[in-house]
Amino acid sequence: MKKNIVCLPGDGIGPEILNIATEVLEFVGETFNHEFTLKNYPFGGNAIDDYGVSLPDHTLEASKCADAVLLGAVGGPKWDSGIERPENGLLKIRKELQLFANLRPVSVSPETSKLSPLKEEILKDVDFTVVRELTGGIYFAQPKRRTDEVATDTLTYERHEIERIVDFAFKLAKKRRNKVTSVDKANVLESSKLWRQVACEVHSRYPEVELEHLYVDAAAMELMRNPRRFDVVVTENLFGDILSDEASMLPGSLGLLPSGSYSTTGPALYEPIHGSAPDIAGKGIANPIGMLRSVSMMLADFGMSSESSLIESSISATLRAGFYTKDLGGNCSTDEFKNELFKELKKGVQTHV
Ligand code: NAD
Ligand code: IPM
Ligand code: MN
Repeated sequence: MKKNIVCLPGDGIGPEILNIATEVLEFVGETFNHEFTLKNYPFGGNAIDDYGVSLPDHTLEASKCADAVLLGAVGGPKWDSGIERPENGLLKIRKELQLFANLRPVSVSPETSKLSPLKEEILKDVDFTVVRELTGGIYFAQPKRRTDEVATDTLTYERHEIERIVDFAFKLAKKRRNKVTSVDKANVLESSKLWRQVACEVHSRYPEVELEHLYVDAAAMELMRNPRRFDVVVTENLFGDILSDEASMLPGSLGLLPSGSYSTTGPALYEPIHGSAPDIAGKGIANPIGMLRSVSMMLADFGMSSESSLIESSISATLRAGFYTKDLGGNCSTDEFKNELFKELKKGVQTHV
């Protein structure tokens, strides 16, 4: 297969982890006879430095024409006080590519269950996915303004925005365990009242799927108390952002979770859920697993299931061999992880090609 993949390394640890991802893709391409075109484009803080904007036009154009976009992470203290922030670029590319559905799968493997700060009995069989609405809500709605005295953000959802993301969640649940948990704050927020109403309406088209509603505060607690109850969790943009970082503590580190963002027709974008980790950038200790799992999601979406599962099983084998980065309580460097991963990839090829 031929695939044109636009790579946006970004800032901080972004390039450190994306480099490994592209090496893995080159290996997979050679091994399975695929022609992957991988080209880096400026995006985020580095693009502000070089082009004055976080999402240069040529980066956006290339992304729109790609088969998929692979992103490291953006942001950092250097750009925190500027008017144009790296994060603007991230919001803009999500909006421009109409990536309304952000999937953040969470599962606990035997290799990581002992690494989590939570008790092993809570973690057993945890396997759910957060479906985060990504192009609406308080991130985008107008008015948005600030003076030294007062600042305003607006939380608006239109029916069609709720309907399409909830529908996405029900369709996904049908391929999983037939359960949707819709998370809102319908006891207070008008946008959440509409969210809940629309979720119930969409549910009537999927009678075989169970629908439960949780308030976001209770959902945050349930994620730690009984995470096994979740199958598909669908929620609005800001709640999904916060709950998915919280959920990363189930497998044990923010560095483990991947994501895929989807529109109805155009290319999808794959990125780990974490940020640019300025506190560890340049130290060579970043955990590349969230990035690698994002690559694995991308390959699965291309229909390359053997390639995708080769990456997953090689990550597991690398962990079983004791290669844990610092965030997982180990002392292995990013490079040492990569070297072991490549050994496992080569071993695994026999069973996957
Ligand atoms: P962060 O996710 O970058 O880091 C939070 C903590 O987790 C840090 O201690 C960091 O060292 C650790 N961590 C994160 N990923 C890791 C990895 N792969 N391996 C090991 N440790 C890891 O969040 P933050 O510190 O709140 O934000 C830093 C910058 O990143 C900010 O500018 C923020 O806006 C940006 N950000 C970008 C994205 C994105 O590009 N998608 C996502 C979140 C935050
Ligand atoms: C994420 C990040 C972004 C978000 C920020 C950096 C804009 O936290 O991708 O989860 O809030 O969506
Ligand atoms: Mn986030």
